[in-house]
Amino acid sequence: MQRLLVAVVIALPVVTAPLPARGQSPPADQTETAEQIFVNTCGFCHQAGGRVAGRGPKLAGTERPDEYLINRIRLGKEGAMPAFGRAFTESQLRALVEYIRSLKDDAR
Ligand code: HEC
Repeated sequence: MQRLLVAVVIALPVVTAPLPARGQSPPADQTETAEQIFVNTCGFCHQAGGRVAGRGPKLAGTERPDEYLINRIRLGKEGAMPAFGRAFTESQLRALVEYIRSLKDDAR
């Protein structure tokens, strides 16, 4: 019981801390949109939401076929990009590709 209390006391500030302002309200169903997944998980390397090259290439305007993109996300690339095969469901992978396709390639 005492341990539980300690755990609650430790966890409390974390739970009650205000969420960082995102300038966007979360979607009603609490599931991340493909864009949110992308920004949170991929944005470190694929900058500006995939619109410009960073550690990873620019994805906007890619001419690779869907299967190539899905396989790259699933399998990653040794020493370049982590594999996300276990992190996403098939429909999340499709949604990520749809998101990439929706990006405007302004530089062209
Ligand atoms: C650690 C950095 C890093 C992260 C994180 C990362 N990538 Fe990559 N990504 C790369 C690099 C580097 C390449 C180029 C690999 C190659 O030579 O094909 C790449 C290639 C790709 C390609 C192929 C692009 C093309 O036209 O050839 C896609 C699609 C892609 N990444 C999507 C994603 C998605 C979606 C995520 C998040 C789930 C993600 N990446 C996370 C570094 C990263």
